[in-house]
Amino acid sequence: MHTSRRFTALPDFPLADMGRVQQDLKNRGMDVINLGAGDADLDPPPTVVDRMCQVVGETAYSRYPFQAGLASLREAIAGWMQDRFGVTVDPWKEVLPLIGSKEGIAHLPFALLDDGDAAVIPDPGYQAYLGSVTLAGGEPLLIPLRPENNFLIPLTDISGAIADRIRILYLNYPNNPTTAIAPDNYFEQVISYCNHHGVILAHDHAYSEIAFDGYRPKSVLEFEGARDVAIEYHSFSKTYNMTGWRLGWAVGNPDLISILSKVKSFLDTGQFLAVQAAGVAALACWKQWVPGNVATFQERRDVAVRELRKAGFDISLPHATMYLWVPVPTQESAENFAARALETEGVIVLPGSALGRGGEGFFRIALTKTEARLTEAAERLSHLL
Ligand SMILES: Cc1ncc(COP(=O)(O)O)c(C=O)c1O
Repeated sequence: MHTSRRFTALPDFPLADMGRVQQDLKNRGMDVINLGAGDADLDPPPTVVDRMCQVVGETAYSRYPFQAGLASLREAIAGWMQDRFGVTVDPWKEVLPLIGSKEGIAHLPFALLDDGDAAVIPDPGYQAYLGSVTLAGGEPLLIPLRPENNFLIPLTDISGAIADRIRILYLNYPNNPTTAIAPDNYFEQVISYCNHHGVILAHDHAYSEIAFDGYRPKSVLEFEGARDVAIEYHSFSKTYNMTGWRLGWAVGNPDLISILSKVKSFLDTGQFLAVQAAGVAALACWKQWVPGNVATFQERRDVAVRELRKAGFDISLPHATMYLWVPVPTQESAENFAARALETEGVIVLPGSALGRGGEGFFRIALTKTEARLTEAAERLSHLL
C-alpha cells in the first residue's frame, strides 16, 4: 500500500506487539510478569466509579460533549490548579478538557508547524511528541537526555541553523522514562529561552502527582513568563489509575488553548460527558485519596530498588514517576537484554532504545505490579547478569 512520507517516517511504536507476545508465552505455560507499560494493576478511587455509575444513563450526558465539555469539569480543574499550584486560570479561556493528555499532546503540532519548522524532543521520550511532529510535517530535533546532564535537555545543545526554525520545545518533568526531575532554575532558563526565541513550551505533566519523599513537582505556570509561551498537559491516568478512561486537560496560554481547541473541533467531539463528570469526582477526592495511591508506588519503588540492588543492578532511587530507569548491566543492547528478560525469565521490561536512540544502555521497569511480583521479577532478572 502507498503510505505518505510522514507516515513512513514513523518508527515502530514501543510495546505495540507486546499483547500478542505475552499471550504466546502464556499459552506456552510461562508465568509472565509484565513491567512494560505504565499501566498499574490498581483501582481508580471508588467515588469515581460510583459517580460514573450514577451518571452513565443520564440522557443529557449522552449528547455530544463538543470542546466546551462539562462546565463543572472546567471549574474543578481551575479550582485544582489553584489549590495544588496556587495558579489562577480562567476555566473557559485557559483550560481545555482532553481525551487523555496524549490526545492533546498529539494534536498541538498541527496548529503550530509548517513544512520546515522544527520541534525539540527529548530522547528518550514519550513517543507522542515524535509521532505527532512527524505526522504534522515538522522536523523532530531529538536531543539526548544524558545522565551527566541529570537527564535535562541542555539549552546549549540547541544551536546551529535549526535553532531559528524551532517552534515547539517539549519537556516532561518528572520524566518518563528517566524519572528525572527538573530544578526551578532549569524551568526559569527554559521559559526565558522560549520567550526570547519565540518558541512554544509544551510541558507534559502526566506525573505531577506521582512524587515521593515529600517532593512536590511545580507547574510551569508557577514561573514568571510562562503564561506567554507555555501549555501544560495534565492527566487523570496515573494519579487516579484511570488510564483507560481517557481523560486529561491542557492548561496555559489562552491563544494556545484556543488553537488546540480549534484543531480538536475538526478531529474529535470531546470525551463522554459521564467520564468528565467522573473526572470532577476524581479531583474532589484528590486530597483524601491520592496520597494513599502515591504511598503504594513509593512502597513498590523501595522494594523494587532494594531487590534489584540485591540482584546486582546499579540503580538510583527515583524521586518521582512510576518507573525505574536501570542501566543495562551487560555488554549488550537494551533490546537484546529485554528480549532475554522476556524469553528466558518471562519478565517484560521496556528497552530504553524503544523510546529513542538516547535510551540505549538503559531499560525501564514500570512499578505496575505488587511488591511480591516486583521481588520475583528482580530475582528472575538476576539470572541475566
Ligand atoms: C510522559 C507521558 N505523557 C503522557 C502520557 C499519556 O497519558 P494519558 O493517558 O493522559 O494520555 C503518558 C502515558 O504513559 C506519559 O508517560
